[in-house]
Amino acid sequence: MITNAESGTRIDAITDDIYRISTPVPPAALPGGFTFNQYLVVAEQPLLFHCGARGLFPLVAQAVAAVMPVARLRWIAFGHVESDECGSMNQWLAAAPQAQVIHGQIACMVSLNDLADRPPRALSDGETLDLGGKRVRWLDTPHVPHAWESGLLFEETTGTLFTGDIFTQLGDTGPVIGSASIVPAAIAAEEGFNATALTPGTASTLRRLKALAPRRLAVMHGTCFEGDGAAELEALAAWFDRRCRAALAG
Ligand SMILES: [Fe+2]
Ligand SMILES: [Fe+2]
Repeated sequence: MITNAESGTRIDAITDDIYRISTPVPPAALPGGFTFNQYLVVAEQPLLFHCGARGLFPLVAQAVAAVMPVARLRWIAFGHVESDECGSMNQWLAAAPQAQVIHGQIACMVSLNDLADRPPRALSDGETLDLGGKRVRWLDTPHVPHAWESGLLFEETTGTLFTGDIFTQLGDTGPVIGSASIVPAAIAAEEGFNATALTPGTASTLRRLKALAPRRLAVMHGTCFEGDGAAELEALAAWFDRRCRAALAG
C-alpha cells in the first residue's frame, strides 16, 4: 500500500495487477464521509477505469505513477458521463499519448465524440478487448445506476466486475476489500441519495450482471467485495424489485 499523506489517497492491489486508487473525503467535507475510487488494470495495454474529477488528476496520476509510467496507459474507460467518472478524461489523454477512451455506442454518439480530445472507440454490448494478460468485456447497463449511456467493464481473467456507482457506500475509512456483504451499506446509501434511476428494468439489468458470476466487485465509492458476487447482485436486485413494486403501488 502506498499513501499520499496530505490527501490520504492510497493505492492497494485488490487482485493480481488490479489496483484501487482511493481518495477519501472526510465527514467534515461530506456528511458521513465518502471515497472516490479509480482502478488501474496493469497489462500489456494498461487500462484505467474511472478517470476521476479534474481536480483529482494530480493525485490519481501520482498514484498511477507509483505503479507504472502514466504515459504507458492505453485505455481509459468509465461508467457514464459525470465529473467523478470522466472529468479528467482529457488530462489523461494529454498525459498518455497512446491512450484512447473506450465506451459504449450511446456515450460515444451522444457525448464523447464531442467531449474527448481524441476520438473514442465505441464498444458493442458484450464486446471483449484483449489487454494482453487481462481481458475486459463491455456491458451496456442503460439507466443503471443512472444515465442512458451507462455501462460497465468485467475483467474476465480475475472475475472482477467494475461496478461503478452500483454498491455505492458512505464512509471514508472502510477496508479496501472484504468478504462481508456490502449490500446493507449500499441500500443505506441509496435510501439517502436516491442515486439510482428506479425503473422496471433496474433489477433485470442487475440480474444480467449476476450471470457473470463475478468473484470480486470493484466499487467506485466504498469497500470492494470478494466472494459470491452473484449473491450480492441478486440481493441488491431483489431490493430494487421490491422498491419498484412499492413505488408503482404507491
Ligand atoms: Fe454516477
Ligand atoms: Fe460515482
